[in-house]
Amino acid sequence: MQNQKIAFLGCGNMGTSLISGLIANGHPASSLSGVDPDENQRRKLAERHDIRVTAAIAEGVPGADVIVLAVKPQTVPAALAEVKPALQAERPLVLSIAAGVRSATISNALGGACPVVRAMPNTPALLGAGASGLYAAADVSADQRRMAMHIMQAVGAAVWLDDESQLDTVTAVSGSGPAYFFLIVELLERIAADMGLSREQAHMLSVETALGAARMLKETGEDAATLRQRVTSPGGTTEKALQVFREGGLEPLLRRALAACRDRSVELAKHGD
Ligand SMILES: NC(=O)c1ccc[n+]([C@@H]2O[C@H](COP(=O)([O-])OP(=O)(O)OC[C@H]3O[C@@H](n4cnc5c(N)ncnc54)[C@H](OP(=O)(O)O)[C@@H]3O)[C@@H](O)[C@H]2O)c1
Repeated sequence: MQNQKIAFLGCGNMGTSLISGLIANGHPASSLSGVDPDENQRRKLAERHDIRVTAAIAEGVPGADVIVLAVKPQTVPAALAEVKPALQAERPLVLSIAAGVRSATISNALGGACPVVRAMPNTPALLGAGASGLYAAADVSADQRRMAMHIMQAVGAAVWLDDESQLDTVTAVSGSGPAYFFLIVELLERIAADMGLSREQAHMLSVETALGAARMLKETGEDAATLRQRVTSPGGTTEKALQVFREGGLEPLLRRALAACRDRSVELAKHGD
């Protein structure tokens, strides 16, 4: 796995985070290369890591076992058209993290030459704390699946999906999910300040509570419902708040929000076809 050559097409936020994560996990920098037309991105990456970063696909891509497609979704068609001639002979795995671009669209743009894996990461991947869903087309080999998992696990946790359409649900849960938690913290802070705490106090207490709760979820091995019940004494303070959430229809509201997010993801993917 560590000898596999990986070329990154697009070395922006995500591409750079994946490269940094792979190097931190022991993947040799000499097996990684990057292509990006933006001189600024190339310079920043070259300052951080001793890897080959070029503007020209002809220099960065040949000989790679995996091409990581990490350009913005709207730039995918142009990037694929540019890279296509270099991929025809070697047929590397293409691992795309471009949101909403279907594996068939990528495969067709490359004339069916390359097996394709699609991954949907999220923003915490930029800190190595991401959560990604992965889908492999039928012609992806077991070794290539392991390789795709190795790459995505460099920036956090990752899980395989059986069906490509499940990526739309992943978008609704973990892709857009950080924004839901940010909103809750934002509201906690605002309401705490309205209730008399200083902005600093409200910020510290809300952020540390989110972090502490997340760590308990991850580190105790207990599920969310058990942890919630443990802090909810009958007749106590937490029970009162949870009752208000229930009566206000928090669950149906979240169901509607996630369904709207998933449906928008489906819609955007149709535009990209
Ligand atoms: N950031 C996230 O949290 C997140 C989460 C999930 C999925 N994603 C997906 O990850 C992908 C990358 O996102 P990002 O935030 O890393 O974007 P980004 O910071 O804009 O990076 C993309 C880089 O690709 C370069 N590029 C454009 N055309 C290229 C080409 N033909 N060949 C090589 N490089 C090219 C861009 O250069 P120019 O600026 O000069 O165009 C830019 O430096 C997107 O498709 C996005 O949907 C991101």
